[in-house]
Amino acid sequence: MDIRIFNNTEEIAQAASEIILNKVKSSPDAILGLATGASPVATYKKIIAAYNAGEVSFKNVKTFNLDEYCSIPASDRNSYYTFMHENLFNHIDIEEENVHVPNGNPENAEEYCASYDEAIKNAGGIDIQVLGIGRNGHIGFNEPSDAFTAGTYKVKLTDSTIEANKIYFDREEEVPREAITMGVESIINAKEIILIAEGTAKAQAIHDMIKGEISPACPASILQKHDNVHIFIDKAAASLI
Ligand code: GLP
Repeated sequence: MDIRIFNNTEEIAQAASEIILNKVKSSPDAILGLATGASPVATYKKIIAAYNAGEVSFKNVKTFNLDEYCSIPASDRNSYYTFMHENLFNHIDIEEENVHVPNGNPENAEEYCASYDEAIKNAGGIDIQVLGIGRNGHIGFNEPSDAFTAGTYKVKLTDSTIEANKIYFDREEEVPREAITMGVESIINAKEIILIAEGTAKAQAIHDMIKGEISPACPASILQKHDNVHIFIDKAAASLI
């Protein structure tokens, strides 16, 4: 693991965006796996700035997002579809047909999830996957459990995740209880992974991911097995390692 501890959000975003931008510059048809949440927002801002400066084009880039809430439409202000458009896609020259955010309300979840994995495979697999981490060690929406998950699937969110997501919703009843997420296997199939985390709330999860045993009780611990993973964190998130 390439573990780097930075002073602030700006430095993390600089390092993470550099890897992504270099990939897109050298492979203009790169496949990017993207994440929502607060963690990657500054990185997306750097990417937009590089695009605005004419340094890079996303015309031929394809993206696959990790996850999406069930029970709210893609048009909802809290959907990950909306999040990605507001924080990245609306500001770069990516083609909408090349953007993939899971459908949170598929008619047949099993068939839909299999088709999402198939689409990633057909595109050639993910070159760089951006990841955040949940306070309980989840990646995407792969919550702690008894077994590592495989491909994309529909998951019930844990109380800790529902609690963490509450801040985005007006009323508690609106917070989705389920999501569609790439499985752990879909995630580690990516050729390169950048995980970003900041703050003391993430410190235990970061400790367990790096120093704990590889176990589905901390889904992110699977990253120990990957040979090309960058862990970009601040001092607070690194405080227990
Ligand atoms: C959500 C998302 C994850 C994200 C995590 C951390 O649960 N499904 O993909 O990594 O939250 O979010 P944040 O970066 O806001 O702390």
